Amino acid sequence: MAIATQAITEKFISLIHEAQGADNKKLKELRKKFIQALGIIGAKQFVTIMADILKDNFHIQGCNDARIPLKSIFNISLDELEDSLLSKDYRLPKEHPLSGLSQDHIGNIKKLKALHLVFSVIKEDDAYEKIVSRKKDIEDYYAELDLHIKKEEEVFFPALEEAGMKEHPEVLREEHKKFRQIFADMFSFLQIPMQDDFYLIVEKFRKEFVPALCNHVFRETYVFYPAALEFIAGKEEWIKIEEGFSRIK
Ligand SMILES: [Fe+2]
Ligand SMILES: [Fe+2]
Repeated sequence: MAIATQAITEKFISLIHEAQGADNKKLKELRKKFIQALGIIGAKQFVTIMADILKDNFHIQGCNDARIPLKSIFNISLDELEDSLLSKDYRLPKEHPLSGLSQDHIGNIKKLKALHLVFSVIKEDDAYEKIVSRKKDIEDYYAELDLHIKKEEEVFFPALEEAGMKEHPEVLREEHKKFRQIFADMFSFLQIPMQDDFYLIVEKFRKEFVPALCNHVFRETYVFYPAALEFIAGKEEWIKIEEGFSRIK
């Protein structure tokens, strides 16, 4: 039987309260608590309740926008994310669409770690040369990210929405848009080099893209993909998703 909505809401509101102003160590603890709580109530029930709360411009005392501390619970480093991805087991056959999407995430984070190492030592005066020298790696990384996003946006999210998941796919699409924009800016700057401004793109990559992508991938892996397995229960629907993925180029 579903656990009472009121009790779940209270549990997560208390986690959000704790997340306000929490440091990384505290956030890591909260992430653990969150994942445990999610395991008890079920991901589908959680995302459904959250969609309703967020739709009503959810705010809690002392905080104008509760989405900020809620989202901060998922601020995870590249290293911790990589470990979390490798230890997540959906117990699915490898041809299942979610196994494929999870493998994409693992490959993406591995490549991103390598790129992040390069970006982390770039300085203002060598930004353009350093990025140009890794242009091929950046293009390869983006090509894979683009393909993964297409699978999610063109096939997976519409199937989730059809199965009743509200709000969240749209939030994830908005985040994808921001990811794409950072790369669009980087590629257009590479065509017309303007070294002064170019460093801003490097900073954006390090300070905005990497943390936002880690947060996004963690939420998909631990919240939305498990919820998807509950929203889309029929084998036939997953076969259709698998077929849809095979058409994405
Ligand atoms: Fe995504
Ligand atoms: Fe994803």
